[in-house]
Amino acid sequence: MKDSHGRVIDYLRISLTDRCNFRCIYCMPEEGVCMMGHDEILRIEEIETIARVATRIGIRSVRLTGGEPLVRKGVVDLVAALKGMDGIENVSLTTNGVLLSEMAGDLKEAGLSRVNISLDTLDPEQFTYITRVGKLDSTMRGIDAALEAGFNPVKINAVTVRRLDQDFLAFAKLSIDRPLHVRFIEYMPVGSSTGSDGSGWDRTDVIPSEELLQIINERAVAQGLPELVSARDDDKPLGWGPARYFEFPGAKGTVGFISPLSRHFCSECNRLRLTADGKLRPCLFSDREIDVRTALREGGEEAVYNCFLEALNLKPDDHHDKVGTERNMSQIGG
Ligand code: GTP
Ligand code: 5AD
Ligand code: SF4
Repeated sequence: MKDSHGRVIDYLRISLTDRCNFRCIYCMPEEGVCMMGHDEILRIEEIETIARVATRIGIRSVRLTGGEPLVRKGVVDLVAALKGMDGIENVSLTTNGVLLSEMAGDLKEAGLSRVNISLDTLDPEQFTYITRVGKLDSTMRGIDAALEAGFNPVKINAVTVRRLDQDFLAFAKLSIDRPLHVRFIEYMPVGSSTGSDGSGWDRTDVIPSEELLQIINERAVAQGLPELVSARDDDKPLGWGPARYFEFPGAKGTVGFISPLSRHFCSECNRLRLTADGKLRPCLFSDREIDVRTALREGGEEAVYNCFLEALNLKPDDHHDKVGTERNMSQIGG
């Protein structure tokens, strides 16, 4: 179905939990966010019902996010249920990768189509600084497990923050020898993002994608590597999202850029978001939410359907430079 601005909406991002086994500095405060109560969180069967209703408005692709979706009990069965649903063509997952070393095989067998893994640095000390509690090895093992389980494409999401001074070329080079699709994401002011030093998001910390592309190319040339070129259509990884892709000639993977701040992609937006506590969000950068949980518990499936119609109607044409949200990324699901 189309929204009131003529965009086809066929992609639903579902946050399974606001909990996470990391505490990334740009995503959550150190003490974690005020966790949602058991009753506030949608039950797995409720998520299935809502997804089934979503197919009636034309949702064909579903992405499970969090917090960390793999800490939610029942996630493997949910993948299987979603994949088996009439109308759903694609079920994907965004994860920090830690639990993939034990779960990748089961997820693949359940029918999961694709995984995107968040990883912001290749330096072990910086990794622990950014995630506050994580170990680089655990995410690297998760990436290996995803490839071994046969997922394709496997994408790596790196949020770029100027003051962190990450080694971007080292990241981009991950795409050369293995079929990994590395994507650099502009740092967004979402919730209480505490920034690289705890003092909050700052515009100067955003590295616009064009500038980053230039930085990577300059460093590549200095090391005797070729520059990144626009990825050939055949080489671009499957996806429903807003990334633009480049590649090193002959590389097995690609390098993508997601530019919510420097290049508005609102006119191409194809998605709705469902938060872990059952609110439909027409737009990441608008705190307007529709209470689908109450609709389901008190009104049943038709009431849920009406929530989707309302969400299509309320979806703004653009965020008009209003960036930022009251809730944290871990609560919204990215
Ligand atoms: P693919 O289908 O693999 O392309 O997925 P995706 O890029 O939609 O999903 P993923 O969860 O990997 O998201 C990557 C980053 O893009 C996250 O930081 C998201 O918050 C950001 N992102 C995704 N969709 C939107 C959007 O509609 N608006 C904004 N501002 N950022 C988005
Ligand atoms: N800006 C940009 N991306 C963010 N993510 C979490 N918080 C932010 C932020 N403030 C990313 C995660 C994950 C994805 C779902 O969202 O790293 O890859
Ligand atoms: Fe957890 Fe992802 Fe937020 Fe990091 S960015 S704290 S891994 S939800």
